[in-house]
Amino acid sequence: MRKDAPAKMTLLQVDRLTKHFGGLAAVHDVSFHVGEREIVSLIGPNGAGKTTIFNLVSGVYRPNSGDIRLGGESIAGLRPFDICRKGVGRTFQIMQPFPKMTVLENVVTGALFGRKPKVSMKTAEGEAVELCRLVGLGDKLKAFPKNLTVPDQKRIEIARALAVRPKLLLLDEVMSGLTPTETDEAIRLVLKLRETGATILLIEHVMKVVMGISDRVVVLHHGEKISEGPPFLVVDDPKVIEAYLGKMVDGEDEPAC
Ligand SMILES: Nc1ncnc2c1ncn2[C@@H]1O[C@H](COP(=O)(O)OP(=O)(O)O)[C@@H](O)[C@H]1O
Ligand SMILES: [Mg+2]
Repeated sequence: MRKDAPAKMTLLQVDRLTKHFGGLAAVHDVSFHVGEREIVSLIGPNGAGKTTIFNLVSGVYRPNSGDIRLGGESIAGLRPFDICRKGVGRTFQIMQPFPKMTVLENVVTGALFGRKPKVSMKTAEGEAVELCRLVGLGDKLKAFPKNLTVPDQKRIEIARALAVRPKLLLLDEVMSGLTPTETDEAIRLVLKLRETGATILLIEHVMKVVMGISDRVVVLHHGEKISEGPPFLVVDDPKVIEAYLGKMVDGEDEPAC
């Protein structure tokens, strides 16, 4: 960082976080932070513990130990709707739209129930229309989720998460399964969200996205943090290469997978 660059305030601080499922340490002693208006990517092979961290930060699970602070205040173990109202919006890896509601109604729920102080139905609807336009669903307000494509269903997730006016937005693999053109659109959307003041923690497998938009990357493997730093440094870290590709076997030129 340049000496005269303003220091970013920490918005999310995750401190020695641990979550066990029976004998499995899904997340073990993980610490990292996200500064205001940063885009931080959480990466790692399948089963590394990424979604579990989202579930801990958003209150779906209580940690076994460790702390999670939002703007300095501990939110670890609070109920999901309390954490949401304190300013954490999230999307789900397995999309969870309300199937009997239209696109607009899905997004309205975020504004109506995810905020404190409460807003009127009229305000919620007005904001939801704007957010649907922002994410590219402006012409599908009355459509039902089951009739939409996967990218459009992901857009509902993003718009609904944004409707709670989050200080911190958690995006869980919103770009997987998209075509290259759709991925480029999604990247533009995330960058646009940051311009409007959002702070984003992103779980992503698509390396083009991770490399292109992350200020920093945190790498998990078997529930532990194995690397952290700017994307161009992290991808060259031997521990990261080994986690993704396996260990070199003596006498081989390529890693054994
Ligand atoms: N509710 C749960 N009960 C038992 N095991 C779980 C549960 N949620 C996640 N796990 C396990 O925890 C590990 C980490 O899972 P997850 O956080 O979903 O990984 P990732 O998102 O990095 O692919 C995996 O081994 C997974 O099977
Ligand atoms: Mg996951």
